[in-house]
Amino acid sequence: MGNELVQLTVRETEGLLASARVPQPAISVPLPGRLRTFYIETFGCQMNVHDSEKVQGVLLARGMRPVEDHAQADLILYNTCSIREKAAQKVFSRLGAFRKGNGGAGKVIGVLGCVAQQEGERFFERAPQVSFACGSASYSKLPQLLDELEAGGRRVCGLSLDTDECFETELTRRDNPFRAYLTIIEGCDQRCAFCVVPMTRGPQRSRASQKILAEATRLVDEGYTEIQLLGQIVNAWQDPSPARRSFAELLSCVAEIPGIRRVRFTTSHPRFFTPDIVEAIDAHPALCDQVHLPVQSGSTPVLARMLRGYTREEYLERIQRIRRARRPISLSTDIIVGFCGETRQDFEQTLSLMQEIEYDQVFSFKYSRRPSTLAETLGEALTEEEKGQRLAELQELQRQIQLRRNQALLGETFEVLVEAYQPRLGQAVGRSTTNRVINFPGNPADVGRYLMVKVTAAGPNSLVGVRA
Ligand code: 5AD
Repeated sequence: MGNELVQLTVRETEGLLASARVPQPAISVPLPGRLRTFYIETFGCQMNVHDSEKVQGVLLARGMRPVEDHAQADLILYNTCSIREKAAQKVFSRLGAFRKGNGGAGKVIGVLGCVAQQEGERFFERAPQVSFACGSASYSKLPQLLDELEAGGRRVCGLSLDTDECFETELTRRDNPFRAYLTIIEGCDQRCAFCVVPMTRGPQRSRASQKILAEATRLVDEGYTEIQLLGQIVNAWQDPSPARRSFAELLSCVAEIPGIRRVRFTTSHPRFFTPDIVEAIDAHPALCDQVHLPVQSGSTPVLARMLRGYTREEYLERIQRIRRARRPISLSTDIIVGFCGETRQDFEQTLSLMQEIEYDQVFSFKYSRRPSTLAETLGEALTEEEKGQRLAELQELQRQIQLRRNQALLGETFEVLVEAYQPRLGQAVGRSTTNRVINFPGNPADVGRYLMVKVTAAGPNSLVGVRA
């Protein structure tokens, strides 16, 4: 890595910062060394998407340039997900393209994120084409690790989980020009029996409220009107600064920043879903009419085996509180089918919970046994096929619920933020505060605007409308 410093604006450095609509401050950028170009592919959750945006910020600040195709990249990074076995396999199929003498020559290949953390140094044995492995708890060390790679290091790793630091970057290359992700808490201290996250993302650490609010204000100055606060358990956030704001107070402070129109937050844990969060939503129209509250199962015995920390009834109480809000709040959830020992009766409890709550969206998954989790050693009663049947049954029920709920919206008018335009169809794609997608006849200039749209047709997954 050369030590020479040149003054460049961020825009000059990368030339395509999609979200930058105002001049960026000049920063000192070292000239790139051998690694001049990078390509990054991201798997998994929004936290990963946003981690990649921050990693790109680090690379751009070094003077590296993004390329569209991995063939042109000096440094190829895969930001990986290991939440389920299938997700974890994806990176290995990508790496298969770079077996010795097969396109990887002269390139440095690195793996980031949860599979990197989980596999650790074993990665170098399993995939010798990889010379860099770094888990998310070590991203704040990226500049040093990249220096080691530049110096020719070939088994460079950042795998310590022993950290109380958050990943702070001076520059973040945000990919979505409308919704800015903003991490407020990293890691997880829960021990849900099925979940790898505490092992792959490390201990929970919250960012100080001042830093969060300063970043949110900067985002508004850049032109963003929608911010999504992120954390594995976003509502476990605790202000480490003397201000000692609660999560609900933080929501209110972000919502009060002049220029903010929409604030979302994900993912909440029912255990920490306190009544003041609903009060904050009531008090601040900018807090979106949407809560994602993963239930995982509708059966109390299964919830107990999962170590979720609540019963079916306690979860329903949280939902009742949300339902009593002044505005109707759209609810979504995550559900795992076929967790260890799940009986038909347990599964029917999940179906009945779905019927009782009528979520607007459900993300459902077959249970997948993960290494180092508490459930790893528990026996599984169901075959993959049986899990698949339960999943299909659950998804069909939810499809009917969504269709019914969406059809009840016919004739209603919503404010949407237009996120895209599909030239082939002449359709604009907008999103309501409740996170519903509405397609309507529009034009390219609509993108980025807030428009009123009246619903004229409804399917299970989206709505069709016209400008109101
Ligand atoms: N198997 C299946 N689904 C899982 N999830 C987390 N761990 C597992 C697992 N081992 C699901 C949960 C979580 C979502 C992000 O992924 O529903 O809320």
